[in-house]
Amino acid sequence: MALWSGRFEQSVGEFTQRFGASLEIDKKMYRQDIHGSIAHAKMLARQGIISQTDFEHIEVGLLEIENQIRQGKFKYDVNDEDIHMAVEGALTDDIGAAGQRLHTGRSRNDQVAVDIRMHAKYLLVELMAENYSLRRVILRAARKYFGVVMPGYTHLQHAQPILFSHHLLAYFWMFTRDFKRLADAFDDADANPLGAAALAGTTYPLDRAYTTELLGFSRAIPNSLDAVSDRDYLLDLLYACTVSMLHLSRLCEEIIIWSTTEFGFITLSDSYSTGSSIMPQKKNPDFAELTRGKTGRVVGDLMSLVVTMKSLPLAYNKDLQECKEGSIDAAHTLRDCMICMEGMIDTWTVHADRMREEAAQGFTAATDVADYLAKRGMPFRKAHEVVGELVLYCEKHGKGLEDLTHEEFQKASPLFGEDIVGELDPEAIARARTTYGGTGHDAVREQMREASRKLKSDRRVVKNIRERGAVI
Ligand code: ARG
Repeated sequence: MALWSGRFEQSVGEFTQRFGASLEIDKKMYRQDIHGSIAHAKMLARQGIISQTDFEHIEVGLLEIENQIRQGKFKYDVNDEDIHMAVEGALTDDIGAAGQRLHTGRSRNDQVAVDIRMHAKYLLVELMAENYSLRRVILRAARKYFGVVMPGYTHLQHAQPILFSHHLLAYFWMFTRDFKRLADAFDDADANPLGAAALAGTTYPLDRAYTTELLGFSRAIPNSLDAVSDRDYLLDLLYACTVSMLHLSRLCEEIIIWSTTEFGFITLSDSYSTGSSIMPQKKNPDFAELTRGKTGRVVGDLMSLVVTMKSLPLAYNKDLQECKEGSIDAAHTLRDCMICMEGMIDTWTVHADRMREEAAQGFTAATDVADYLAKRGMPFRKAHEVVGELVLYCEKHGKGLEDLTHEEFQKASPLFGEDIVGELDPEAIARARTTYGGTGHDAVREQMREASRKLKSDRRVVKNIRERGAVI
């Protein structure tokens, strides 16, 4: 029997019942629903709206239901539209009239809003913690391969030699920004809608500050209409997930390229590769590809909610029921992809010799040769032209810059001394980039120290959220 059976002479058909339900996805929020209800009941009792005995029955009954659900023993009724009705129905079956008093001064509209916010907070902290682990793995790899030189690219063409650690750390900072986006989404979600009731507040003297405290929210939402209809924090969550998936996807693309026969920079471990059913020699980077592919799905989740929210009039509309699935999917997808990335990085084999070999190819020393002339008085534009001609000369004669004799250099410009040859070593070229944030050994060492400090402070952010009981 529906909760609104008083007003209705007919019930919905089997199909529409199923079509209108959100129970399947709601099952993931059972903990939040139950603890939201306990807090509401506790507040009702403190305000004298229900009796203390009723509250005690409600609390014991709800905790028992939580236990049953956790152990997989709870029997969901297919006629329940959502988790709110499933739990309240079971509670009333168990404890009778006290169960029927639970919903005093509350609507499913503020109830679902509180559940989703708490669940979003839970997901966001999990993501922040995983993001932290991923960055720790990246920093560890940057330390482990410190000194390995590779070609840096622009347009996927050899540009200048860089440290492999520097390349990895670029991702460290991308994921650091993702952490901030996740933390911001957490902060947005961290406001209590409970007490807004259906849309306008209630005539009962609810203490919203008290439920805010009990549920670990940092504040109560000041407008009841906004409280029941706002899903901005899910858009923030989805955007944070999307950007982080883009970052993972970029790294996956590089991992896929690096592990080709042509590049041979890394070999993924067998545990992060798959074979072919027909070609016995194959070892494919399936998990990197899958992460790249799943990025599309998360972008889709974001787009889906953006479009759902467009033009929704205030306050609650059933369209809002659609906000849960994509958000939870995006969070789970990002979490799994981060775990996978950690594993790939932790177990790959890096071929430093191949990277170094390629770092010297493709005239990657050209900028430094031009700088050599400029530092000896030639205007940089002129030096650029002289070295451009040298590169052309090399190409015509099938040589690299490092193969040129001192005489050949001198023919291009008398400013070239004997020491030019030593300038062409890719390691020395990388080392010379001493600017803050550059690829030089000292600069990268400094960068790793900064990364380590950032990691520590972000760990404290996660720890503080958990310690202040902000997540249920
Ligand atoms: N199942 C609904 C949801 O997930 C709960 C709120 C329903 N409220 C309503 N007025 N129909 O959004």
